[in-house]
Amino acid sequence: MILLLHGPNLSQLGARDPAVYGRATLDDLVAAARAEHPDIDAFASESEGDLVARVHAARTDGTAAVVVNPGALTHYSYALRDALELLAQPKVEVHLSQTAAREAFRHRSVVSAVVDVTITGAGDFGYRLAVRAALELLHRRARG
Ligand code: DQA
Repeated sequence: MILLLHGPNLSQLGARDPAVYGRATLDDLVAAARAEHPDIDAFASESEGDLVARVHAARTDGTAAVVVNPGALTHYSYALRDALELLAQPKVEVHLSQTAAREAFRHRSVVSAVVDVTITGAGDFGYRLAVRAALELLHRRARG
């Protein structure tokens, strides 16, 4: 199972700044991920603590890999970063928008240092890429 995590405000996609984030809803993004791999457990929360707890649970619940869009937590949540660091499974960070081309506070991800792959700026297609990357990382680990 691949765990797909979404942080704050991503529940509002579709209505939220479509010029930046597109028209896809959170459900559409989960569907895009499932088009690549049907066994996706999707968890979304507005709360940093709930996301940290879900990452802890992923250490032992059969999660094979994680795809995470932490929303704004990307830029400042050392708690989420540390939880992800604890997780040994392959981890892929994904952002709809091209964060490097936006406001300065979005240029830094505190999460990137503890994930294997980061995908930015590909919109909803980035979710398909992210799941493909997670599967490729799993294949590589299985090959040793
Ligand atoms: C985002 C980028 C973040 O800067 C922002 O706070 C989000 C969405 C993205 O997917 O482009 O909530 O993670």
